[in-house]
Amino acid sequence: MISAPSYTNQDWQLGYDSLLTEYDYWIEDVEGQIPLDLKGTLFRNGPGRLERGGSPYRHPFDGDGMITRISFIEGKAHFSNRYIQTPEFQEEEKVDRILYRNAFGTQKPGGWWNNIFDLKIKNPVNVQAIYHGGKLLALWDGDLPYRLDPYTLATQGKETFGEKLKLGQPFTPHPRLDPKTGTLMAFGVEAGLNSILHLYEIDAHGNLHTKKDYPIPGFAFLHDFLWTPHYKVFFQNPLSFNPLPFMLGLQTPGMCFHSDLNSPTRILILDDQGEAITIDTHSGFAFHHVNGFEQTDPDTQEPHLILDSVVYESYPSFDGKTDYRLVDFATVPPGKLRRFRINLAQKTVESSILLDRSVEFPAIHPGYVGSEHRYVYLATVHQGSGSAPLQGITKLDTHTHQSQIHSFAPFGFVGEPIFVPSGSEEDEGWLLSLVFDAEKRRSKVVILSAQSMQPIAQLLLKTHVPYGFHGSFTSEVFLDPE
Ligand code: CO
Repeated sequence: MISAPSYTNQDWQLGYDSLLTEYDYWIEDVEGQIPLDLKGTLFRNGPGRLERGGSPYRHPFDGDGMITRISFIEGKAHFSNRYIQTPEFQEEEKVDRILYRNAFGTQKPGGWWNNIFDLKIKNPVNVQAIYHGGKLLALWDGDLPYRLDPYTLATQGKETFGEKLKLGQPFTPHPRLDPKTGTLMAFGVEAGLNSILHLYEIDAHGNLHTKKDYPIPGFAFLHDFLWTPHYKVFFQNPLSFNPLPFMLGLQTPGMCFHSDLNSPTRILILDDQGEAITIDTHSGFAFHHVNGFEQTDPDTQEPHLILDSVVYESYPSFDGKTDYRLVDFATVPPGKLRRFRINLAQKTVESSILLDRSVEFPAIHPGYVGSEHRYVYLATVHQGSGSAPLQGITKLDTHTHQSQIHSFAPFGFVGEPIFVPSGSEEDEGWLLSLVFDAEKRRSKVVILSAQSMQPIAQLLLKTHVPYGFHGSFTSEVFLDPE
């Protein structure tokens, strides 16, 4: 049976319009009731501007980073958005022209002659925003974090953690917070023909400690990782990288790597003694991992690692020639939630698919990071197992394998869900997500009950917010001092 699509491409594309104005207001258009005990701040990051001087950026990963902040207090919510004022952004604002090469799809105008041997890439600071150790940090893989004032969202500059990191040093947008110690585990990878992995730990007071560096043979595209109390786990996706077209000004770095389907994915496991083991599994590509935990097999007593990840068959490569908004979803590999079971004694791995629906942006209860989780929340397609825009939020019970979806189709397009705990049960809490409503051409902040997967409140914003990437929640309330 072929069913009608749950969306139109025209509706979906509207979510990639830029939002150039910065706002501050209390959200008045509320359907339902904001829970009185929902207190804190949701920070989100993503591209706010997707064109410059009339030229559209060729990939949303190149869009200029804009922080969206929603502050919840006493049953009310306040919205603010601010661009991250990097020197490169300010220069381009001044002349309203693209002055820099970008990592994924966008070159400087003027063809290869204008790009050759210019190896400087603009940091769009558009992937993630976290509040940790008294610092609000905006993150992008290839550079230091930018520090922002959490009250005013003013850009304060690059964060070197007291010069422990050098300018330009990479820093993952997916650090993992140890819920027991409050230490933030992070890394940065200098990817090249051979790569170097830097390991960082930031204590609850915001002090960074560096750990031993690891050389990784070959090109390593590491966006995310998994942390358990005794291990850090990285998936080295099988990509081949030829930097020559980039150096010659012909292509961006993102166009220079391609999936090598004949090679395995290499799982790199570092233990807390500094020992490393690698285990190969079938070829695939993972941007995001859900969670990992340690388990002793009850029969053999052998130590295992259980890892849940979103895996694509291959890297979604692009040539920069076609408009990303005109993508044919039938040609895009779907992301599948996969569970890897690693036997650390035998150095073997097996894996299986947990949910036969295309998914992205996984989330769990933050108190379960590094220990056994039961529930996973994901942005998912509305129906079927193929690729499509994300229109629903799905809850998967990994014990019963039952799933529940709340869909916003046909006009709603969802962003990453973020779990905010409200009680002692693992699924007792709220899921916060920004959903673009193409019919109204505005976005809404949706608060779902994670137990029932039904909306508790939907907060309609005054404008749309372009599709973003990641965000985080802190129980501290930040509002602009009036
Ligand atoms: Co990510």
